[in-house]
Amino acid sequence: MCRGDAAETALVLETERLVLHPFRPEDAPAIFAYAADPEVARYTGWAPHRSLDDTGAFLRRVAERHRDEGLPSWAIWHRGDGVLIGQCEFLRRSSRDGWAEIGYALSRARWGRGYTAEALRAVVTFGFSRLGLNRVQGTCQATNRASARVMEKAGMTLEGTLRESWFADGAYRDRLLYAVLRREWPG
Ligand SMILES: CC(C)(COP(=O)(O)OP(=O)(O)OC[C@H]1O[C@@H](n2cnc3c(N)ncnc32)[C@H](O)[C@@H]1OP(=O)(O)O)[C@@H](O)C(=O)NCCC(=O)NCCS
Repeated sequence: MCRGDAAETALVLETERLVLHPFRPEDAPAIFAYAADPEVARYTGWAPHRSLDDTGAFLRRVAERHRDEGLPSWAIWHRGDGVLIGQCEFLRRSSRDGWAEIGYALSRARWGRGYTAEALRAVVTFGFSRLGLNRVQGTCQATNRASARVMEKAGMTLEGTLRESWFADGAYRDRLLYAVLRREWPG
């Protein structure tokens, strides 16, 4: 799991139960296994993957974002099982204003065990210490209580509601905005 060049190795993040590793082409089948699940895709900005071609396109977008904007994405590996169980990423940034936005998704079979909050804490620490950010933010649909809770558990603060800022399932939906500042971060 820890193959790769020095640049890739420098991006590996370790937590108590997880290893976060930059995505690799050979991860595609494991990503597809959860990204094809409509319940996993439901609150994200992407449609469920229909085939490995969709997963390949996802991996290309992730690589381009890293190359063009310096924003890494990670596969979340379960240490004990040696299985890829999800993803956590920086989606966009403002270099001028010193912020970046996070996103995440986890295989449904692994929900509810605190893995995403654990991964997110490592990614936020990376954002402050390695990307030099002043602010890390995230949004979720107001009805996505699990995602809101993930951001709370990771130490982010609810800043407000972005009213009807998300069109999904035929209607405009409210989103919650969470953020944490570098001066508030213990790591
Ligand atoms: C959101 C998601 C990543 C959470 O992953 P996870 O590893 O299960 O999250 P955690 O276990 O770290 O934390 C989930 C928390 O939400 C809580 N929760 C879960 N469902 C809930 C619900 N319906 N209402 C209230 N709280 C809920 C859990 O109890 C837990 O809190 P606790 O530890 O205080 O008990 C996962 O559900 C997922 O992949 N969802 C689909 C993709 C998605 O929504 N991505 C985010 C887009 S903004």
